[in-house]
Amino acid sequence: MNQFFILSILLISCLSLGTFTRYDAGLMQPSRFGNFKRPRKQGQKITVGRAEDVPAGRGATVELLDGTELALYNVDGEWFATENFCPHKGAPLADGHLCGSVVECDWHGWRFDLRTGQCLSNASRIETYEVVIEDGLIKIIV
Ligand code: FES
Repeated sequence: MNQFFILSILLISCLSLGTFTRYDAGLMQPSRFGNFKRPRKQGQKITVGRAEDVPAGRGATVELLDGTELALYNVDGEWFATENFCPHKGAPLADGHLCGSVVECDWHGWRFDLRTGQCLSNASRIETYEVVIEDGLIKIIV
C-alpha cells in the first residue's frame, strides 16, 4: 500500500469531475521560496487515477495527501509528470499549453521539455517523474 493517498486529481477543462484548480497569481507563487510543493523522489509508485479520465492533449493537477503537487500530461497516449509549479513565478504548469512533449507556461511563456524537465527558454529546469499505465490506471513514481 502506498504511503501517500491521492486527495484528488483535478482535470483541466474536464467537466465530468466538476472541480477545477485555479491559482491566483498574487497568492500562489511557490517559486519565491523554492517549490515547497515539489514531491521528493522516494521511488514509490502511486496510483493517481484512471487513464481514461485524462484526455489526450491535456494536463491535470495531481495533489498528494502531503500537500505536494504534480502536473500530469497525456501527450497522445504518452504520459509525463513534472513538478507543478513554474520556477519563474510559480504558475501551475498543468494549466500550460501542450505542444507535443513541450509545455508552455501560461503566465510568461517559458517552455519545458517534458522528457527531461529542461527549460527551453533559459537554463532552468523542472523535476520530472516516471509515469506508467497498468490495467488502465495511472501510476506515478515519486
Ligand atoms: S510563471 Fe513566468 S514563465 Fe511561468
